[in-house]
Amino acid sequence: MNRVIDIVDLNPKEIEECIQTALDIIKNPDKYAHVCEGKKLATLFFEPSTRTRMSFEAAMYELGGHVISMTDANTSSAAKGESVADTAKTVSCYADIIAIRHPKEGAAYVTAQNASIPVINAGDGGHCHPTQTTADLLTIYREKGGFDNLTIGLCGDLKFGRTVHSLINAMSRYKNIKFVLISPEELKLPSYVKKDVLQKNNIPYEQTTDLERAMPKLDVLYMTRVQRERFFNEEDYLRLKDSYILTPQKMKYARDDMIVMHPLPRVNEISVEVDTDPRACYFKQVLNGKYMRMALILKLLKEAGRI
Ligand code: CP
Repeated sequence: MNRVIDIVDLNPKEIEECIQTALDIIKNPDKYAHVCEGKKLATLFFEPSTRTRMSFEAAMYELGGHVISMTDANTSSAAKGESVADTAKTVSCYADIIAIRHPKEGAAYVTAQNASIPVINAGDGGHCHPTQTTADLLTIYREKGGFDNLTIGLCGDLKFGRTVHSLINAMSRYKNIKFVLISPEELKLPSYVKKDVLQKNNIPYEQTTDLERAMPKLDVLYMTRVQRERFFNEEDYLRLKDSYILTPQKMKYARDDMIVMHPLPRVNEISVEVDTDPRACYFKQVLNGKYMRMALILKLLKEAGRI
């Protein structure tokens, strides 16, 4: 395996191995501080990012490696019309591993098809965001003690939210999982995810527009931002953007052991007053993302025989 394009490129055993590596990194950071010495990660970001790009870069530095970075498509030769395939072939001459974010679905796959080094998808349009899912999985593992027997509420933009699609794919592989899909009618989960993942695997799910009524049954509430950049018109975005706002008042409907997650960035969908609630885990997710990206870089470089 020389690529992670979709979360299902990692089977549950590989996820477990990455989690164990991440937990070991947390306990023994010195053991990993030089393992990637002399190696280079290329971060190719054709779309804005704070967490994913910076955590990939921090991950590589903490493994003793180096980073070369494209932070803006407009300052690269993509602005002159260079294809993703040619960019992949070019960057393979300079780096040992690529993390790419691109607004077009499939761009990470095309990169992997053309690169001669390992490729990690850091988000491709509304399709997948597998490394966010690895951050989500480590968070669920650390906070809930495992992945089985959970009822997971997904709330907000379930249509364009690529982190939601990846998380459903990942969690559908564990035992006794239920989903509660909470969204406005216009932002419901795409039917291909329902059909190809939930129905195919006999995963129970319900759809609702009512967050408050759903809350008492949840082990995990995964809030999402309405994805402005994927809307065709601003009017629809403005009408839907504040469909759900989680407040301390609404948190009273939740169980004491429910956790609140969000891939971030947040706009309005979780009020800042919720941040001090012990059930708020979204900044833990940010840190867990760095550890899981370290684990993934190690895994792919080892499998490619580069470390
Ligand atoms: N969660 C996430 O992908 O954040 P960024 O867009 O800041 O990378």
